[in-house]
Amino acid sequence: MVSADSKAGVPRHVAIVMDGNGRWAKKRFLPRFFGHKQGVDALVRVVQACIDREIEYLTVFAFSSENWKRPSDEVSGLMGLVLAAVSRYLARMGAMGVRIRIVGDREAVSDKLRAAWAEAETSTAHNSKLTLNVAFNYGGRWDIVQACRRAIEDGVPAAELTEAKLSEYMAMNYAPDPDLFIRTGGELRISNFMLWQTAYTEFVFSDCLWPEFGEAQLDEAIAAFRARDRRFGGVNAPGVPQEA
Ligand code: IPE
Ligand code: IPE
Ligand code: MG
Repeated sequence: MVSADSKAGVPRHVAIVMDGNGRWAKKRFLPRFFGHKQGVDALVRVVQACIDREIEYLTVFAFSSENWKRPSDEVSGLMGLVLAAVSRYLARMGAMGVRIRIVGDREAVSDKLRAAWAEAETSTAHNSKLTLNVAFNYGGRWDIVQACRRAIEDGVPAAELTEAKLSEYMAMNYAPDPDLFIRTGGELRISNFMLWQTAYTEFVFSDCLWPEFGEAQLDEAIAAFRARDRRFGGVNAPGVPQEA
């Protein structure tokens, strides 16, 4: 699904790879965990900034399907941090009008975390200011495979498995494709984030480490997005008629 930009060049859907927490901590001679902790605060800040800018969807990469490769103390630290963040910020997110959705494979996470996710989703389901998709134990390849599997289970005939049909089975089928992708931390890669949905997304890479990301950096990314000429394979030139 290609999303039409909403009001005056504001992206409807922003997707962020929140990278650089570890390096932020390292620079301060702190354990990596402290970087992740600061990262949660950055996320709360950015959620508010998105609401203020009337962005409708924000998808953040919080834990990838490959992040299990990290040392077990970092993984368990992250799981604990997520639980703590839900109990600390859920009410506030609800009051801000945020609808929370978790995307990713929930099988591998603990019962406690699964229950916290369910609570976060049900208690904010009625909100409509901003949809916050938290990609957790998520991988773009996982998403495509789970979509294919479910389509097969539903008995969709091969001839009917179009791009539009498969999109219906993707984890974020309720959201338009992201208009703007931001990766902090300076790496120039997608790291298995939203592979299917970013076909025509505009990419902005920032050297800013995620814990330091805020309104100013978001505005910089939006300004870069606004300066792009989105053609979706067509031709944007005066006098050239556009096909639907
Ligand atoms: C991103 O920060 C957070 C997660 C992957 C959970 P990193 O932990 O990858 O930070 P760097 O890239 O090592 O600095
Ligand atoms: C991507 O960052 C995943 C998240 C931000 C959750 P990584 O730090 O895991 O990515 P690589 O290993 O540098 O590609
Ligand atoms: Mg990283």
